[in-house]
Amino acid sequence: MVESIIEVTGLVKHYPLTQGILFKKQVGAVKAVDGVDFTLNKGETLGIVGESGCGKSTVAKMLVNLEQPTAGSIKYKGEDITKLSGRALKSVRRNIQMVFQDPYTSLNPRMTVGDIIGEPYDIHPEVAPKGDRRRKVQDLLDVVGLNPEYINRYPHQFSGGQRQRIGIARGLALRPEVIVADEPVSALDVSVQAQVINLMDRLQNEFDLSYVFIAHDLSIVRHISDRVGVMYLGRIVEIGRDAEIYDHPTHPYTQALLSAVPVPDPEAREHRERIILAGDVPSPTNIPSGCRFRTRCWKAQERCALEVPALAIPSEFRLTSGPAAHDSACHFAEEKQVVPPEEPPDDLAKGWE
Ligand SMILES: Nc1ncnc2c1ncn2[C@@H]1O[C@H](COP(=O)(O)OP(=O)(O)O)[C@@H](O)[C@H]1O
Ligand code: SF4
Ligand SMILES: [Mg+2]
Repeated sequence: MVESIIEVTGLVKHYPLTQGILFKKQVGAVKAVDGVDFTLNKGETLGIVGESGCGKSTVAKMLVNLEQPTAGSIKYKGEDITKLSGRALKSVRRNIQMVFQDPYTSLNPRMTVGDIIGEPYDIHPEVAPKGDRRRKVQDLLDVVGLNPEYINRYPHQFSGGQRQRIGIARGLALRPEVIVADEPVSALDVSVQAQVINLMDRLQNEFDLSYVFIAHDLSIVRHISDRVGVMYLGRIVEIGRDAEIYDHPTHPYTQALLSAVPVPDPEAREHRERIILAGDVPSPTNIPSGCRFRTRCWKAQERCALEVPALAIPSEFRLTSGPAAHDSACHFAEEKQVVPPEEPPDDLAKGWE
C-alpha cells in the first residue's frame, strides 16, 4: 500500500507589499505560493519543476519551517506541522531536512567541514553525544564519498560537487525521513550533476528517504523522480507519475517546458516540436484572472479568463485509465507528445501520426 508521509493542502505564502516609511501601508502582496496541494509518499521522489520565480524555494522553506505559511496545512504523518511549537515542532523538524541550492554560499566559509556537518547535533545532542560526534561525522563523510580525513578542512578547499556532498552529509546528520533538496545540482557543472544525483539516489535506498527534489528544468529530475509536479506562478498546474508527465503531458505549460528540454538523439531532436511561449511570466503581485497561464497560452479562450481551472483529472480523460488520466489544471487539456520516445512502442507510434 502507498503510504503518504507529507500532505500539503491549500498552501499559500503571500509577502505583503508596503508603501511609506513611517506609516507602512500594505498596498498589495507578492503571491509567491498561491494554493499548492501535493502528497509525498514514503520512499518516493517527487520532482517539483518550474521557471525561476514560480515559488519553488518558498514551498521548500515552508516544508522545513524556515517560512510560516499565510494559509494552508502541511501534514507530516497526519499532523499539521504549521500548528506545532516547542518540543513537538523540534522533533518533526529533525525528520525533514533541507539541502540547499548553492554549495558555494550555503556553507559557512569559516567553519571546518566537521563543524558544518556536526552542527545539527548542537540542536539535537541526543542523536550524537559529544564523544561520539567526530566518528559520526567521519562516517557521514564516508557515506557521501569524501575522505573522512578531510574533517578539518574548510569549504574553499573543495570543488563544487564535493561541497554539495558536504551539504548532503549535513542534511543526513540527524537521520531524517524526508529531504527537501532545492535545486541541489543547478549550480554545478553538467558533468558533476549526474554524480550528485546518483549519490542521492543511492542514499535514498540506503537510508529509506523520501525526497522532494526541486529543479527549474524537467530534464534534471527525469531520472530521479517517481512523480513530477510542474509549477507556474505559485501553483502546481500538472502533476503525475514520471511517464505521465514526460510522455503524456496534457497541460500546455508542461508541453512548452518539455519542448525546450535538450534531446541527445539527433533524429529525435529533428522530430521534436519547439513551442515558444509568448511574453514574460506575469508578476506574482498581479496574477491574471481565471487560468494564470492564459497570458502566455496559445490555446487560451474566453473561458480561460473567467474560470480558474482546478487541478484534477480533466473530464475527457476521467473514464480512461490511460496515462493522460492525471491531474492537470487546464480547461482544454489535450494529450500531446512533445519529445518522441527513443524507441516508440508500435501502438504508441501509430496514435501519433
Ligand atoms: N522574502 C520575500 N519577500 C518578498 N518576495 C519574495 C520573498 N521571497 C521570495 N519572494 C518572491 O516570491 C516569488 C517566488 O520566489 P521563489 O520561491 O524564490 O521562486 P523560485 O525558487 O521558484 O525561483 C518571487 O517573485 C520572489 O521574488
Ligand atoms: S485553461 Fe486555457 S489558458 Fe489555461 S492552460 Fe488551459 S487552454 Fe491555456
Ligand atoms: Mg529557488
